Formats: sequence, C-alpha cells, structure tokens
Amino acid sequence: MLRFDFSFMFEPNTPGGITDEELCSIKERIVQSVEKTVKSRPGFVNVLFDRIYMDSVEDIRQWVLSFDNLVVVGIGGSSLGAVALANALTPPDWNYLSKQERSGYLRIFFLENVDPDQAAAVLDEVDPRETLFNVISKSGSTAECLAHYQVIRGLLQIRGLKPSEHIVFTTDPRKGFLRQISRDEKILALDIPQDLGGRFSVLSPVGLLPAMACGVDIKALIDGAKDAYLKCADLNIEKNPAAMMAACHYLHKEKGRTISVMMPYSNKLFSLADWFRQLWAESLGKKYSLDGKVINEGLTPIKALGVVDQHSQIQLYNEGPDDKTITFLEVESFDRDVLIPAVHHQEDIAYLGGKKLADLLKSELTGTERSLAMNGRPSMRVTFPTINAYDMGQFFMYYEFTTALMGDLLQINPYDQPGVELGKRITYSLMGRKGFEVLKFPEPVKKVVID
Ligand code: PA5
Repeated sequence: MLRFDFSFMFEPNTPGGITDEELCSIKERIVQSVEKTVKSRPGFVNVLFDRIYMDSVEDIRQWVLSFDNLVVVGIGGSSLGAVALANALTPPDWNYLSKQERSGYLRIFFLENVDPDQAAAVLDEVDPRETLFNVISKSGSTAECLAHYQVIRGLLQIRGLKPSEHIVFTTDPRKGFLRQISRDEKILALDIPQDLGGRFSVLSPVGLLPAMACGVDIKALIDGAKDAYLKCADLNIEKNPAAMMAACHYLHKEKGRTISVMMPYSNKLFSLADWFRQLWAESLGKKYSLDGKVINEGLTPIKALGVVDQHSQIQLYNEGPDDKTITFLEVESFDRDVLIPAVHHQEDIAYLGGKKLADLLKSELTGTERSLAMNGRPSMRVTFPTINAYDMGQFFMYYEFTTALMGDLLQINPYDQPGVELGKRITYSLMGRKGFEVLKFPEPVKKVVID
C-alpha cells in the first residue's frame, strides 16, 4: 500500500510551510469538493466498477499472447499511462529478453511522437508477422496516431498480412474514424468509455491491454485503484491522501508556489512523472473559470529524476525562486540491489564500501528533502513499498482524484483541453486537410532569425 508523508509541506518542519490555521481554513472547502466529486461519479471512477472493460481485454488474452511484439500507437493520454506501466512493471532489459524469459509475454514498443528516426527504428526492430499493433485514439482523429496507423497499414500491405489479424483498435464505442474502419473492415476495437477523457483513461483498455501484454497483473492494478478510491471518498481529510494532496498544493499555490515538481528516486518510476505532468498540465491549465471569467489558471508540472537531477536541478530548487513544491517518489524495496564492494580504504571512498546502491539512493533522497526543508522549500513523499501493479493502480487513482479536487478548488473544468485545439487546426491547414484550407494564422511581422 502507498504511504504519503506530508510532513515537510508544513510548518515548523519547513519554515514558510502550511500552518495549522491555514489547513483548518480550507478543510470545509476540501470536504465539499470530495463530496461533489464522489457524487458526480467521474468516468475515471466508473470504469473501475464496470467489469466489461477488464473483461474485454481478458477475452483476447490468448490471441495477444500468440504474438511476440506489441506496438502501441497513440499519443498523450492514449500512451503515457501505458508507457508508465510498462516501464514500472517490467525489468529495464525487457525487450532484450527471449520470449521464454518473458514467460510468453510480449516485447513492447511505442509509436508516440511522429519522429521519423524513432518510428523507422521501431518498425525495423519488429517482424510484422509476429507483431500486434494496438492503435489507440479516443477521438479516432488525432493526426499523429492516424499517420502512424497508415504507415503500419502500408507495412502490412507490403508484407501481404491481413490488417484484422495484426491490428486492434482502442477507441470511442461509437464515434470517430477508427470506429468506422473497425466496422467496415472487421478490425477488432476495444471500447474507451464515452465519459472518459484521454489523460484519465489509463485504467480502461487504453492502459490495460498494453499492460496485460507485457505481463502486468491487471486485476491487481484495478483492485489497487478501487481501494484507493475508498480512501479518496473519505471526508476526514487527515485520512484521505487525495484531499490532503489537493489541500497542500492549493495552499502552497496561494503562497506563490505554482510549480509542482515530481521527482522519482527510481528510473522505473520516471515515466510516471510524465503521466502526472500531462494530467496536471492539461487538466488544470485553463484560461476560463467555470463562470466564464478569464483567469489563466494552472500549476506547472516539472519532472526530475533522483539522484541524477540533484546534479542539475537541486541548486535551483534550493536557492532559486521560492515557487515550487517537490513530490518525491520513493521505493522502499527494489527488485534487485547491488553491493558496493570495499575496494579502497582511503577515507574519501571507504564509507561507500559494503553498502548497497539502494542505501546511497535513499540517503540522497533524505539529504535532498532535508536540505530543501532547511531552505524553506516544501516537499512531500510518496513511498512505494515495492513497485507492483496494485500500488500503481493506487497511484493513478489518487492523482486522478486529486486533479478533480484541484479543478473544483480552482473553479475550472479539469476534463477539457480547448487550448490544444488551435494548434491542431493550424497543423491541419498546413497539411492540406479539407475544410481547413482557409484558416488564418499569423506569420511574424518582425523577423528575428540568425543562421
Ligand atoms: O488527455 C487528452 O484528452 C489528450 O491528451 C489526448 O489523450 C490526446 O490528445 C490524444 O487524443 P486521442 O486519444 O483522441 O487520439
């Protein structure tokens, strides 16, 4: 079970942190937000309690396991959760292991960015005959996803392979281009619930199919999220990690700390910070309040990796502008550990001998946390006893629920993303999409270009 330690968000542990009075002043509002969120039954909660979504993935388990590779095609909310799951719950050398060493599960690759070097390298690596392509798009109209999809269709055509035998879509149950193709060409399509937006969809078939394909216990994942939800619904803020997290981030924002750093001390959890970054940025960064006023609201999420970024970011976090809160992700027990042999006896190095790499990593986390506190920089810790599917499920739920609470506190809609649309429309215009030819967008009047 995950543990949340908020101690260094508060006075007197961190000078300038939250006081008891400040926490007290917001309790009533938080309780109301929890009640409201529970009552509204958001899509990310509903999906856990409707078995059809997990069953739709379990139903095709044997077919999926008949392949050697899974290539996931999707972007943003249609990939970040699955990337986080795959990186957290498979060993770093997963794709280099034999099928037997992988217990029959699949190597996993992602086509997210339309970077031709990356796409070409992935497609060179996999043998299409032994590959399942999972094309994921809620809207079924995202340009990057549809471009990759057509590249894959082209590849299958050249190799004389049937699309319906190598492609599975994950998309809206009724609408969109992928749904249409699925009907026309009898390509299997798994449903993303209609009330579920991309960045909240990791616990639907969007994340479950890729996770299952690389051996993740998806039942444990869902169980973890369900158990976390019970805690999220608790009206006692001292027992509710999501409520406390929202309270802390909101109160620190009021003090000018509008940057939320997530810093895992674990390479396996680093992609989780990417998932968080999208959830926090796209959900909370909004121009308009619920009643239509221009407020340009938001908290800026940053990701950093412990300990690597101690040698890059911590100077700034300790002594730069006091505009951040830091969330450390800690792992109590790693899958493996490495002993540092006592090779030298000189003082400068001898203290390391006989210790393990995990000892050093954990000491560095504590060192960073305490130095930040001494500089009046607030932080919190989320501890994973081990990295497992159940706790990953918990993590997703706690952060989704916190985001919903933050939306309510900030008086914005956390479920839309109108700010992404304009750029998309300009892209369509540049790529010659019908209906967008006449779209007007500014060219710089004054050019400042240096070759
Ligand atoms: O959270 C979101 O809604 C977005 O990040 C989407 O996931 C992303 O734009 C991809 O959209 P789609 O799944 O429709 O292809």
